[in-house]
Amino acid sequence: MSAPTTSPSSLDPERVPAAIDDLLREFLDEQLHRAADLPELVLFVDVLREMIAAGGKRIRPVLCVVGWQAVSERPPPPAVWRVAASLELFHLFALIHDDIMDASETRRGRPTAHRLLTARHPGRADADTLGVNTAILLGDLALGWSYELLHTTHAGSTDGHLSKAWPLLNALRTETLVGQYLDLVSAGQAPAVRRDATTARRVIRYKTAKYTCERPLQLGARLAGADTKLLAALSAYALPLGEAFQLRDDLLGVYGAPERAGKSVLDDFREGKYTVLAATALQRATPAQARVLLAGLGNRALTAAEASHMRQVLTDTGAPATVESLISERCGQALAALDHAPLRPVAATVLRTMATAAVTRSS
Ligand code: IPE
Ligand code: IPE
Ligand code: MG
Ligand code: MG
Repeated sequence: MSAPTTSPSSLDPERVPAAIDDLLREFLDEQLHRAADLPELVLFVDVLREMIAAGGKRIRPVLCVVGWQAVSERPPPPAVWRVAASLELFHLFALIHDDIMDASETRRGRPTAHRLLTARHPGRADADTLGVNTAILLGDLALGWSYELLHTTHAGSTDGHLSKAWPLLNALRTETLVGQYLDLVSAGQAPAVRRDATTARRVIRYKTAKYTCERPLQLGARLAGADTKLLAALSAYALPLGEAFQLRDDLLGVYGAPERAGKSVLDDFREGKYTVLAATALQRATPAQARVLLAGLGNRALTAAEASHMRQVLTDTGAPATVESLISERCGQALAALDHAPLRPVAATVLRTMATAAVTRSS
């Protein structure tokens, strides 16, 4: 696999996504080539290629490369690019399974993987089930391949490098999966439990903040030899940023423009998601407002008109404004953490820009 050559001062984070996509495409081509006796694999690879081509911000690979830059003047070696690409493949796995669990139909402006796979079996009475079950397998494959990609041999790569990464990679996987469980188990809870915003914050830390921001940044830095003090300094930036990232996602999931965000604005309501937004609104709601919210949350048949009424009630409780201030507060904490962090200034500058972009995004 080829990795981009770059000089340290000229490493532009905007070039990372294209480089990662090249690595992923090359890896997927290799998988097909190696399994020539398994023509069925084309279906799986096609869906992954389609998800990659559909868009996405590639924030995890970018943070991994910037993590390297935070410590080292040298261009990132192949091991860093492999970890960065592996993070995106892990993310694809997480999205594929997340969309099944959240019954989502749209991702990155396209049908979700299970919907794409259902469409591959037209005319079959069991097409829906087959689509979902095949997408479970596709997610499993993406997860497995995210680790296989790390082992792909490459001239000049040293697996000694990667041995430093394993504890962080192992933590990332466990944290994300437990975070997803916390998300599922807290949805559809009894009203008393729903009013507890602390639980809602714990969900976002584990399901998103760690695998999206903290671990990717630490991985890049660790590969460059960062010690525990620097890893802690990076965490002080990345955890509040990751929480702000998911809080923005929760607002976009209710108030966003689907054509920009690439996903539905009904799913969180229909699944009864226990977001900080919903928890805050329920804490503040009058009995009449609470009745509307509790009737809508978890109603899988919720109509667009009913969702619009819920949006208005949420706004009336002041919850979106509170979530906006939580986002600003966390973004401020992330930026403040950079002030005394012992990182290379070039990386600190990129991290400042990324913090603002991650929390003001519309997609
Ligand atoms: C979506 O992640 C899932 C969350 C963890 C919020 P992203 O917002 O990074 O999704 P893409 O990769 O840009 O599509
Ligand atoms: C996504 O959480 C977290 C993971 C994929 C691990 P959400 O379910 O809140 O994200 P979206 O809104 O579907 O992207
Ligand atoms: Mg989801
Ligand atoms: Mg989810």
